[in-house]
Parts: sequence; structure tokens; C-alpha cells
Amino acid sequence: MKPILRSWKRQQEFSSNAAHELRTPLTVIQNQMEFLLTKPRDQVMDHAVEVSTTLDEVKHMKVLSSQLLTLARSDSGMIQINKQEVDIEPWLNKVIQPFGEIADSQNKVLNTNLLAQGRVNFDADLVRQLLVILLDNALKYTPSGGSINVSAKVNKKNLVFEILDTGRGIDDPEKEKIFDRFYRTDKSRNSKTGGNGLGLSIAKWIVDEHHGKISVHDNYPTGTIFKVVLPE
Ligand SMILES: Nc1ncnc2c1ncn2[C@@H]1O[C@H](COP(=O)(O)OP(=O)(O)O)[C@@H](O)[C@H]1O
Ligand SMILES: [Mg+2]
Repeated sequence: MKPILRSWKRQQEFSSNAAHELRTPLTVIQNQMEFLLTKPRDQVMDHAVEVSTTLDEVKHMKVLSSQLLTLARSDSGMIQINKQEVDIEPWLNKVIQPFGEIADSQNKVLNTNLLAQGRVNFDADLVRQLLVILLDNALKYTPSGGSINVSAKVNKKNLVFEILDTGRGIDDPEKEKIFDRFYRTDKSRNSKTGGNGLGLSIAKWIVDEHHGKISVHDNYPTGTIFKVVLPE
């Protein structure tokens, strides 16, 4: 009975955390809309702040609902991984390119060191999602003026990615917990970097599906390194 009870409890926790995460943006949206309704004669321009706050929350909810869907589907075994041959270099450049532009706009530097070449076998959609999660974090948790480094190489038939940043870093006791669903470190809960703590649990699931490994290390003097090894 024990494993069944444990999984039941986990499922219950998951639903209640999900509901809680959805409530916060919904409350903000409701408040903003109710406020706007008290000013029926104003122009949109007069309330750009309220409109953009609402839009931000809608965007958060969109990310949240698609992440919840991914996890629900992965739990019920509904996602089949679909490995295909990918020409690694152009594919990586395409995945990383938008993040270079985001980095620029935030006064951060994104360097790449892509030594992987040729055709590699993996689920391109899932691995893109994995890189997006790690790049998004690297940018989000690195202050302006900082830098992010992405490297890729093939080593003994393994595809190895490293995403390195010069951000706030992750304390040792938290390194294990960050892959748990909904877990966010105190530092990120207290700052205003929107997020829900689901990204890395999805990243871990994607890596597991590929029978690979994901690990987190300190960067010196400051920051974090995420390393992913995907076997062929
Ligand atoms: N590159 C990073 N630098 C510092 N902290 C990080 C980094 N990546 C992840 N974290 C920490 O791990 C937590 C979980 O990450 P994630 O699952 O992507 O959730 P989210 O980004 O939505 O909070 C983050 O809240 C943050 O505290
Ligand atoms: Mg994240």
C-alpha cells in the first residue's frame, strides 16, 4: 500500500500547488479588470500600467498551463519520445538565437561555444524545450551586466551541453531540491522574477526520457553551471 499512498499524496499535493499557482495571477487579473471598470470613460492609454500588468499575468498563466499539461501528460505516459536525426549545429544556433537577442536587450552577454557537429539522435522538440528552460533560467537569474555561456560538444558518443551563468548561484542544500515540482529557492521567491518552479522538473523528466544525466555545479567566483549529458 505504501507506494500507492505516496503517489496518491503526491498527486494531491500537485493539484493543490497547481490550483494555488493559478489563483495568484487570476486574482491580479480580476483586481485590474475591476479597477478599469470603475473608469469607463478613460482611454486605454491612461491605463497602460494596468493593461500591461494584466497581460504579464496572462502570459504567466499560459506558461503555467502548458507546463502543467506537459507534466500531467508525462505522468500518465501519454508523451512518446520521438527520436530523430538532427543536424546539430544549425539546429542549436536556431534554438539559441532568440536568447542572444533577449540577452542584448537586458544588457547581458550570451557566448556560445558549439563544438558539436554532424547528426545526433534525440527528440528535437523535447530537447529544445530542455534548452529553453535552462537558457530562460540562466538569463532570469543573472543580473544585468552578467554573462551566459552555452557550450555543446560530442564526447564518447554523448552529446554534452553546458549552460553557465554568472548569476546569483544556488546554495548546496538547494541543489537537489530545485528539480522538484514547484520548488523555488528563497532567493527567487523573494525577488520579482516570475516563475512557478516547474521548469527544472520538466527538464529532468526530458533528460530521464533520454536516459541522460543533468547536474548542477557552482561557477566561480559566482553563478551556476547546468550540465546535461545525453547518450546517443
Ligand atoms: N541559473 C540559475 N541560477 C540561480 N538559480 C536558479 C537557476 N536555475 C534555477 N534556479 C533556481 O531553481 C528554481 C527552480 O527553477 P525552475 O524549475 O526553472 O522554476 P522557476 O524558474 O519557474 O522558478 C528557481 O526558482 C531558482 O531558485
Ligand atoms: Mg525556470
